[in-house]
Amino acid sequence: MHSIAIDGPAGAGKSTIAKRVAKELDFVYVDTGAMYRSMALYFLRNGIRPEEEEKIAEACKEITVSIEYEDGEQQVLLNGENVNAFIRTEEVSMMTSDTSRYPAVREKLLYLQRELAEQKNVIMDGRDIGTCILPNADLKVYLTASVEERARRRYLEQQERGMACDFEKMKKDIAARDEQDMNRTVSPLKQAEDAVLVDASDMTIDEVVAKVVSLYQKK
Ligand code: DC
Repeated sequence: MHSIAIDGPAGAGKSTIAKRVAKELDFVYVDTGAMYRSMALYFLRNGIRPEEEEKIAEACKEITVSIEYEDGEQQVLLNGENVNAFIRTEEVSMMTSDTSRYPAVREKLLYLQRELAEQKNVIMDGRDIGTCILPNADLKVYLTASVEERARRRYLEQQERGMACDFEKMKKDIAARDEQDMNRTVSPLKQAEDAVLVDASDMTIDEVVAKVVSLYQKK
């Protein structure tokens, strides 16, 4: 099996790029952030606060996360319920960043992610795919862009979904999530030594897709 790992901070365009590359190379796109989001949704629904690590570890035992594809789109199932419609709010984003630092949460998803990569050719995006989940990926890309540009994209994305949003708040939230994702002890967001750095601040989507495809083909 072949695999491509795409890591990077929030809003760098990982999912947009990974979906397009998946189509071009006929790989399966795996969005790991959505899996962490579904777990955060479970904690929120059960009134668990982010600092309650023990309760979170206990709750992990009650959770089953799985994925399936509908018209090529990944759907995340939380204990059998399709939760795709509920995991993209700012509240869930922040809760996900808060709780994905706990080993119990990460362990829960580690095997699922590795298993997926053993079954199919995958392009997987997240924070620790190149550094932890798929250390032997054929290609590792660290995709980033300036905070300003990433906030702008998230803002447009939320607007398109018809969700209310505040640009300045979004910028602050993105910076706060970066800080938290990069500085946690377990599996922090960082560029793998053998990853290729792609700064997409001044690149179009087409350019980034072409770059990733060509990096893969050169391997
Ligand atoms: O990619 P995303 O914005 O959907 O990710 C949501 C949060 O999940 C992000 O703040 C960090 C966490 N995450 C993680 O810790 N590891 C991953 N592989 C993917 C996401």
